[in-house]
Amino acid sequence: MDSMLSLEKVTHYFGGLKAVSNFNLELPDGALYGLIGPNGAGKTTIFNLITGIYTPTEGSIKLMNESIIRKKPYQIVHMGIARTFQNLRIFGSLSVLDNIRISRHYTVGKSKHTGNRKHKESSDLVQTNLFDSFFRTRNYLKAERQITDEAIDLLKLIKLDDVMHEQAKSLPYGKLRKLEIARALATHPSVLLLDEPAAGMNPAEIGELMDLIHFIRDNFKITILLIEHHMKVVMGICEYIKVIDFGETIAEGKPVEVANNPRVIEAYLGKEEGKCS
Ligand SMILES: Nc1ncnc2c1ncn2[C@@H]1O[C@H](COP(=O)(O)OP(=O)(O)OP(=O)(O)O)[C@@H](O)[C@H]1O
Ligand SMILES: [Mg+2]
Repeated sequence: MDSMLSLEKVTHYFGGLKAVSNFNLELPDGALYGLIGPNGAGKTTIFNLITGIYTPTEGSIKLMNESIIRKKPYQIVHMGIARTFQNLRIFGSLSVLDNIRISRHYTVGKSKHTGNRKHKESSDLVQTNLFDSFFRTRNYLKAERQITDEAIDLLKLIKLDDVMHEQAKSLPYGKLRKLEIARALATHPSVLLLDEPAAGMNPAEIGELMDLIHFIRDNFKITILLIEHHMKVVMGICEYIKVIDFGETIAEGKPVEVANNPRVIEAYLGKEEGKCS
């Protein structure tokens, strides 16, 4: 079967610095893969290349066999790739619900079916135009109601509905990270890229996050690529792991294979206990 997402010989330079070197990835439909490596290894740069923030110096990136190179970030979201950021990007002064609604608005015109999801497809939404929004026609109000209902359903699934009317900035860190994930899901992705979702979480929140990631993959039928420093998370939930260091792939395989790989152990030597050790 073809991959959901494939990267072939992807290389990226920042000036003279080779941040990603000859990187290959075949992410099958429905997979939950991990991408790990020490600080500065090139992990976030790979996400930035996939999401159109950077154009690779060399190599190809395809979503369901279609090249996404040189597409704009919003086009890539429309095609079905969503992400969270290492440094949270939430609208702090807006409510939790409005953060989700905005994200859904972003993809209202999305026409392409890019995967199997239990979510309502965007084509189910009442279509509106500028006239509708200017005069707040019945169509407009109906579409807004649909978007709000869908956002509330999503918050219930993610178990954030109890705080939906709160200002996002008032949420504790663990819930903010969940809100970022919910916001990405609101765009109806086929592929979800999570950049260190457990960063700053306490052990109880990390346990909940692991359940949540599994739940998302199984419930929404989404393919997931996860960057994470917490080994408990990566080893606990990923089926397959790629390890990079200085932009180069140094190991890959099932969690147990990677954990026992001498090159991986060497790359992480001296790291904090419990983090990529
Ligand atoms: N916009 C940029 N301009 C120049 N260099 C950059 C830029 N972004 C990243 N780099 C460099 O590229 C390398 C890879 O950075 P990247 O952020 O991808 O690492 P990372 O694996 O995500 O690290 P971390 O675990 O600390 O988040 C680093 O040496 C970094 O300093
Ligand atoms: Mg990073």
